[in-house]
Amino acid sequence: MYCIKQYFGLLCLLLFTVNGLPFPNGNKWQEPTLNNRPIIGILAQDTSSALGRTYISATYVKFLEQAGARVVPIRGGQPEEYYIRMVNWTNGALIPGGVVNFATSLLGRSARLVYDAALKLNRNQDYFPIWGTCMGFQLLCYLVQGDNLLKRTDSANISWPLTFTPDFKSSRLFGQAPENIIQILSTEPVTQNEHHYSILTKVFETSKLGKFFKKLSVNRDRKGVEFISTVEGKEFPFYGVQWHPEKPNFNWNTHYNTDHGPDAVRVSQYMANFFVNEARKSSHRFPSVKLEATNLIENYNRTFSSDDTFVDIYYIDPRDT
Ligand SMILES: *[C@@H]1O[C@H](CO)[C@@H](O)[C@H](O)[C@H]1NC(C)=O
Ligand SMILES: *[C@@H]1O[C@H](CO)[C@@H](O)[C@H](O)[C@H]1NC(C)=O
Ligand SMILES: *[C@@H]1O[C@H](CO)[C@@H](O)[C@H](O)[C@H]1NC(C)=O
Repeated sequence: MYCIKQYFGLLCLLLFTVNGLPFPNGNKWQEPTLNNRPIIGILAQDTSSALGRTYISATYVKFLEQAGARVVPIRGGQPEEYYIRMVNWTNGALIPGGVVNFATSLLGRSARLVYDAALKLNRNQDYFPIWGTCMGFQLLCYLVQGDNLLKRTDSANISWPLTFTPDFKSSRLFGQAPENIIQILSTEPVTQNEHHYSILTKVFETSKLGKFFKKLSVNRDRKGVEFISTVEGKEFPFYGVQWHPEKPNFNWNTHYNTDHGPDAVRVSQYMANFFVNEARKSSHRFPSVKLEATNLIENYNRTFSSDDTFVDIYYIDPRDT
């Protein structure tokens, strides 16, 4: 943004000099007005619990809230119009990590409908960002490719630094990142991996994925197999991380070695700030304050397991029985 601002500043200065006139209304060039009340939809996913058909882990809600967004759940099993409406009323979508069948689950269907609606809007000069974390990233890849290209890897319960690719510097996600964030990410094991499958680099390069996404970082699994760890859409504001930026701040499950240190937390905050700022570029809004209020995640009950798992989740569609 800084470069763009400088560029426009120069352009405006030239116009001023040539015409000898002030800018229209005497205003300096400004960035497009940001929407400072962004609302992001998180896609609910299938649960096997007796308590609900779908759920959302509170970690993803808090992840977005820490950066100044509010959250609405995107429910499973709704009519197609529901998804078009939700995309039209919100400023971005997050597909969380977890475990579902991409082809047959409620989440798989919700993600496809949201993705299709978002593609259409972005192609029509609108702005609607999507973020996928872990399985959410894999699901985005499945939607882009129209096929499941995942391969088994040994990459769960382990944290690594990122290996940045040469193009990360020209990316939206990392290009303007403070030096210390890049330093931490490239040298400290702050990215927690919890996946048993990955998009291998060699598969990425020869598939549609390599045309659709720019790869920003890779990692090697315990056996040395290289996979894609961070991407961003070349033409669309879509982002994917195979790792978990929400865990350092918000996942306290003692069965995992989550790094809660200040550097891991800083990275989490950077990632959340980046994505929520993408959502601020969308001017969508709910048609009324009442509809906004009744859709917010605050309308759902959060349940907390006060054992050593610290599992904190929202059941979105409570079971009837
Ligand atoms: C999308 O929102 C705009 C205004 O915010 C409204 O005019 C349009 O009818 C909406 N479309 C759908 C499908 O909800
Ligand atoms: C993760 O690894 C640690 C050892 O580093 C182990 O104690 C723990 O049980 C593992 N957790 C899971 C869920 O496999
Ligand atoms: C939340 O819990 C309260 C009290 O148990 C209940 O009355 C309410 O219906 C629940 N709301 C939802 C959306 O499940």
